[in-house]
Amino acid sequence: MPQKAESNKVFTVVGQNKNRPAVLVINGPNLNLLEEREPDVYGRQTLEEINNDLQKYAHSRGVSIDFFQSNHEGELVDQVQQSRGKYEALIVNAGALSHYSIALLDALKMTDVPIIEVHLSNIYRREDFRHQSLVSTVAIGGIFGLGARGYFLALEAAIQIIAEGK
Ligand code: DQA
Repeated sequence: MPQKAESNKVFTVVGQNKNRPAVLVINGPNLNLLEEREPDVYGRQTLEEINNDLQKYAHSRGVSIDFFQSNHEGELVDQVQQSRGKYEALIVNAGALSHYSIALLDALKMTDVPIIEVHLSNIYRREDFRHQSLVSTVAIGGIFGLGARGYFLALEAAIQIIAEGK
């Protein structure tokens, strides 16, 4: 059984292989508590289980993948800044910060690689305050409401977009 990620920890960072395209998956606040957090909304898998499966999928598709999760806006901004020049695509579920973080939006604006947004839940069927996403304004596209599957669809999209050189 994988360990539950502690809050505010970079709990998986897989070394990059220079010969493979690299993708970074960024998760924001409270996504470290998947499985125990409103499972009817967010599913019953831990983030670590999802990431382990994503890593296997990435490996099978010849892609390097790194993961970062933080509950802190500034740490997410730092990570986005530090990721510049290291990845060919970003997959971002910024959690609640999606809806209001101009700081994260500004950091994402400085990346020149495709950003694919993911939300486990269908944010448009929920409270009004979830209907706006600032991340969407800089994302090439996004997937919402399909649970953990959304990360895999996003990764597959990233792989295809990278291959097409977009
Ligand atoms: C979420 C949706 C957000 O509104 C919420 O604050 C989250 C998770 C999702 O994956 O569905 O933390 O991003």
